Amino acid sequence: MNTKPYIKKHKDRFINELIELLKIPSISADPAYKNDVIKTSEHIKKSLEDAGCDQVEICETPGYPIVYGEKIINPDLPTVLVYGHYDVQPPDPINLWDSPPFEPVIKNTELHPEGAIFARGACDDKGQMYMHVKALEYLTANNELPCNVKFMIEGEEEVGSESLGWFLENNREKLANDVILISDTGMISKEVPSITTGLRGLSYVEVEVTGPNRDLHSGLYGGAVANPINILCDMIAQLHDENNHITIPGFYDKVEELSKEERAEMAKAPFSQEDYNKALDIAQEHGEKGYTTNERNSIRPTLDVNGIWGGYTGEGAKTVIASKAYAKISMRLVPDQDWKEITDLFQKHFESIAPKSVKVKVSPHHGGTAYVTPIDSVGYQAASKAYEDTFGKTPIPQRSGGSIPIVALFEKELNSKSILMGFGLDSDAIHSPNEHFGIWNYLKGIETIPHFYKHFATMSK
Ligand code: BES
Ligand code: MN
Ligand code: MN
Repeated sequence: MNTKPYIKKHKDRFINELIELLKIPSISADPAYKNDVIKTSEHIKKSLEDAGCDQVEICETPGYPIVYGEKIINPDLPTVLVYGHYDVQPPDPINLWDSPPFEPVIKNTELHPEGAIFARGACDDKGQMYMHVKALEYLTANNELPCNVKFMIEGEEEVGSESLGWFLENNREKLANDVILISDTGMISKEVPSITTGLRGLSYVEVEVTGPNRDLHSGLYGGAVANPINILCDMIAQLHDENNHITIPGFYDKVEELSKEERAEMAKAPFSQEDYNKALDIAQEHGEKGYTTNERNSIRPTLDVNGIWGGYTGEGAKTVIASKAYAKISMRLVPDQDWKEITDLFQKHFESIAPKSVKVKVSPHHGGTAYVTPIDSVGYQAASKAYEDTFGKTPIPQRSGGSIPIVALFEKELNSKSILMGFGLDSDAIHSPNEHFGIWNYLKGIETIPHFYKHFATMSK
């Protein structure tokens, strides 16, 4: 198999097609973009048909539609199910973008001298999902598809995949497969390919602290009543101790502790703390005592405030004690932590540390379970061989800090392993202003994915 000549020939079209897809603002979190999200699903349907799927449908759900497509060449052959998402994160803060988030442009960067496409969703996940569409085009156009393929592309990943859970329960047979293939993660670097073997779980909550029943003059009342913003900050500060351990009682009870050997294995992945700090312009790293940076952001659970607001934030100064203060807080979880249990522990603890002078409300948002996959499965080995074919190197297994909550559900509902072949880089700024995806990465993904099919079909025999 040599996928290179076909890619070389169609490279410009592959890039332009992705650019068209990136122009549609499919922001699932904001109802104002409902029509655009739906329009994106129709766009994907057309792309899958053009790439060679025999049958493509837009499946309605209680939320945004799921695009389902398939090409069944022989029911006796194995089936690969490709999962991806066509929704994107809100682009805010918009003023920090160098070019408009939904007007894709190609620019060269230090890491991407071949150019990178700048747009919201370029890497997460439209660009990575579209690599699979183009890989399918390659396989069908060249008559090299060695097994059956199904596509399931959803539009609610960035808001918790609620409809997909429902869809899985109701379509087990339709979705039956031998392996699930996903490109929605990253790799270590262009020179060091890696396959993601773990994802963290998540518990996401919003808290509201109420002091007096109305906003007050901070001179007339200041010092005599609880200021909810002060109190909220104080409560948040109490959630970590001096070693950056999380103080919620019971939080660590079920955390899987890795053996010395496993940690030593992890530490072999190339990493420079100096480069890391430099790339982020920080004088020093920060985190849980006793763990390295790569452990802190993958095998350890965390608690982070994602947003905090209240009071006056407009121009100039206003002397006021706000009645309410708010924060959004996420906890990244590791195997065997149960996100519902952790959400409960958080709620009880947060209520218990509130002084009597305020009222506290904790509202859970969504959550998900962590995932780890063994490296001795047929799927992992097939992926590893695919990278060997196109990178000339064996990829390193690596646990990621991000979450794709639906992956644990795939294992439970469909009883199959997910293989996470991510081609993004940490520097791609996913969820941030100036998100981008290297053209090299995009084409490398299209080049590598067909090799996975080849090896998976051969090794499944
Ligand atoms: N693709 C990301 C997750 C990801 C990125 C995992 C890079 C590993 C490496 C996904 O779209 C995402 O952003 N997930 C959310 C969780 C979701 C419930 C909103 C996350 O991790 O914050
Ligand atoms: Mn994603
Ligand atoms: Mn995302």
